Amino acid sequence: MVPLVLAGSIRAQDKNPFHGNKDAIEAGRGMFRIYCSPCHGIGAEGGRGPDLTLGSYSVGNEDTAVFRVIASGAKGTEMPGFGERFDSDGVWRLVAYLRSVSGKPAPKLTGNRANGEKLYWEKSGCVACHRIGGRGSRMGPDLTLVGRQRSLAYLREALVDPDASLTPGYNKVTIVTKDGSKITGVQKGYDAFSAQVMDAQENYHSYFREEVRSMEREFKSMMPGYGKSLTPRELDDLLVYLTSLRGQGENR
Ligand code: HEC
Ligand code: HEC
Repeated sequence: MVPLVLAGSIRAQDKNPFHGNKDAIEAGRGMFRIYCSPCHGIGAEGGRGPDLTLGSYSVGNEDTAVFRVIASGAKGTEMPGFGERFDSDGVWRLVAYLRSVSGKPAPKLTGNRANGEKLYWEKSGCVACHRIGGRGSRMGPDLTLVGRQRSLAYLREALVDPDASLTPGYNKVTIVTKDGSKITGVQKGYDAFSAQVMDAQENYHSYFREEVRSMEREFKSMMPGYGKSLTPRELDDLLVYLTSLRGQGENR
């Protein structure tokens, strides 16, 4: 039988029966490596998903809040729910493991948020492709919550080496139509009948399959790398700004 952990059956006052239990922590570590490390890193230090070693969580710091997000996932993000894969003891073991590796000091980032904000909105052209709090463009991913969804290391890589950290669903695609025109952008849809692409000017192109001569998908980003055009200082400023984007009303 498939276990189904109903996160709703966890009460706020519930405590982790395995807290501090060495065997449970080791079991949790093994589960984490298999199921969680692709996004959260081999030691929970973060990657495509957030760093889980900081000792504070966006979902709340109680064991029950951590239990819930593991069992049910976070809607609208890449975080899946695991309540059908593990029973509640399994989820508690994962929580025990996370507690055992948390509390590391947050990585020091000495940048200037105000300058980062300015770089984002005024100098670096980010607005031409991204949205924050409803302002901006749609070709690249919405960054409104990017500070809670991604680790610092991932964000840095996204800026200096965009091809290495492609956001799922935003790879580059080039369509050549039968009348010879060529459009490069991010793929917004593709089915048996049609293909849709958004170019860097935010123009939406839609074709019927019979109009398309070829379609090439590349695992490349439409985003330019900023490792050279920004100084290390400016990159840090921008990263401080990006990590502050957590949807708690401080966005403009
Ligand atoms: C496909 C990628 C992916 C996988 C696999 C994944 N996560 Fe996540 N996880 C995320 C993302 C993205 C978020 C941020 C969600 C948000 O913004 O609310 C997240 C959030 C979390 C949070 C909340 C962090 C916070 O600060 O609130 C916890 C705890 C967590 N994940 C644990 C796990 C565990 C344990 C596993 C394995 C059983 C796992 N995750 C597997 C991507 C993933
Ligand atoms: C020409 C369009 C374009 C410009 C300009 C641009 N980006 Fe991007 N960006 C993208 C696209 C497309 C992606 C998704 C593909 C990828 O992962 O690189 C992306 C991805 C990202 C990501 C990863 C988001 C995630 O959740 O995975 C971050 C962070 C980001 N951009 C920040 C910036 C910042 C900051 C600037 C300005 C310094 C900028 N971008 C300029 C198009 C752009």
